[in-house]
Amino acid sequence: MLGAQDLFDGPLRLASVRRYLEDRRNIVLVACEGPRVIGFLRGTALDQLESGRRQFFLYELAVADDRRRQGVGRALMERLLVLSRRLGHEEVFVFTDDPKNRAAHRLYRSTGGRTETRGERMYVYRWNGRRPGGRPARR
Ligand SMILES: CC(C)(COP(=O)(O)OP(=O)(O)OC[C@H]1O[C@@H](n2cnc3c(N)ncnc32)[C@H](O)[C@@H]1OP(=O)(O)O)[C@@H](O)C(=O)NCCC(=O)NCCS
Repeated sequence: MLGAQDLFDGPLRLASVRRYLEDRRNIVLVACEGPRVIGFLRGTALDQLESGRRQFFLYELAVADDRRRQGVGRALMERLLVLSRRLGHEEVFVFTDDPKNRAAHRLYRSTGGRTETRGERMYVYRWNGRRPGGRPARR
């Protein structure tokens, strides 16, 4: 995956990537421009205690510096939401890394994410408007 290393925190270990992808609870979506990776997201479906359905925790989303503001992040997010719903997840949730990360806040809001926490760092996407249970403790 050309250019992918710039998007991750450090070098990828092939064995770890393979194990991650083999776990069917994990989802990785990759945006490519030819052979170059220009964006990706990843996360994991979590079991809940109050519901028989899983919730999807979006752990990481990043777009290459020179490809931002071109709709890549939105496309990844929208694809995830379709997939997650199709897989029967009850909701998708994501934490913003920084309250001042304007790009992330606006992206999540403009794709239907809603905040519940006082600090507005967690966005939830719900299909049915019901308050779901079983999320991690509020921050
Ligand atoms: C957040 C991030 C993934 C957005 O990706 P992107 O491909 O640039 O986003 P898009 O072009 O699809 O933009 C979708 C919407 O997000 C908002 N947005 C994106 N970048 C923005 C910026 N720099 N400032 C303000 N709003 C922004 C806008 O509402 C935009 O819609 P618009 O272009 O129609 O106004 C990207 O900025 C990034 O990789 N940031 C570093 C990693 C990161 O912060 N990840 C999220 C951690 S919680």
